[in-house]
Amino acid sequence: MVGTNPAEFWSKADELCKSEKMDPNLTFNIAGIELKDRYVQAPLAGFSTITMRNFAHRYGAGLSYTEMISANALFYGSQDTFEMLHDTQRDEGPLALQLFGYEIDHIEKAIEIVEKEAKYTFLDFNLGCPVPKVMKQKAGSHLLTDLPYLYKLMSAIVKKSNHPVVAKTRLGFSNPEDITKIVKVLEDAGVKAIAIHGRTRSQFYTGHADYNYIAKAKSIANVPIIANGDIDEKNAKDVFDLTKADALMIGRAAIGNPLIFKDLVDLEEGNPLTIRTYKDNLEILKEYIDYSYGFERDAHKVSLALRTIAPAFLTGLPSIKKVRTLMVHCNSKEEYIELIDKALNGEIE
Ligand SMILES: Cc1cc2nc3c(=O)[nH]c(=O)nc-3n(C[C@H](O)[C@H](O)[C@H](O)COP(=O)(O)O)c2cc1C
Repeated sequence: MVGTNPAEFWSKADELCKSEKMDPNLTFNIAGIELKDRYVQAPLAGFSTITMRNFAHRYGAGLSYTEMISANALFYGSQDTFEMLHDTQRDEGPLALQLFGYEIDHIEKAIEIVEKEAKYTFLDFNLGCPVPKVMKQKAGSHLLTDLPYLYKLMSAIVKKSNHPVVAKTRLGFSNPEDITKIVKVLEDAGVKAIAIHGRTRSQFYTGHADYNYIAKAKSIANVPIIANGDIDEKNAKDVFDLTKADALMIGRAAIGNPLIFKDLVDLEEGNPLTIRTYKDNLEILKEYIDYSYGFERDAHKVSLALRTIAPAFLTGLPSIKKVRTLMVHCNSKEEYIELIDKALNGEIE
């Protein structure tokens, strides 16, 4: 399988994923742009590479996101950040390009840059990131502490952007009841869809996403709502039923499991789920490795990232612990493939 040329690989993926839908109940649209289904690949810093996005697109996601891109870094001309923009030229499906920042003039300049350098469908703005480095810049979920400023900022973004603007938020900074106010502020500013992670900033990733607040937000919203937080193929239907959301966004459950999008679409269409053995998952991992080294710019970065991503493909493998330990020493495509082949052949106990 490894070394398959991309055309062959994707024709196989297409076979696996006949998910172009006509049923309007099973699709959704943002700002009049029709998306092929209601499942969205979440932005995941460090993971949402062109590889993850194209695997998500090909295996069925209706929309995918870039990881958060710093408006300040673009403003100050960081080369790495520009390269992230150029990668979007190769996305194979609808893409939301996500920016984060605080200063309106920096963000306006960043929008000018992304309009010129990147190819995307929607401009997304991050209102959810809880990490201290971002909070210090008053960006991410810090923006939820000052709704008048949030309105001013989002209005400026909508005015500046030639692409429809969407936003991704948490329920609030510390009070989940704030989500209804946040939704209204965003709508008034002209935002065309809102992804809601069902936690506050204070919760970080603790506890469980609270879908009741997403349901509340949906009940007063005039724009599509994308529910997010702890969603996988097991609870997707319940989350739809409870929240009445227009779409579901999947983050961690898609790491090492791009076929989750095919499973979600199959479940919704009443098709039997494809049972995959760990050997099938290993074959998909090999494709993923092949694609990563073939399509990403920095082989060293790929090697490091795969140390986290690859084990997620290996759930169920008897020698998973040993393989994971050995993976820390893999520094090239060949070393990864050799290790996986050994695991497949039962050569690692
Ligand atoms: C490693 C990691 C990186 C993330 N990076 C981003 C990001 O760049 N932008 C963003 O809006 N959210 C980011 N998130 C949040 C996710 O998009 C998502 O909201 C959260 O993980 C909850 O969804 P899940 O339970 O399906 O993972 C990140 C989460 C994780 C775990």
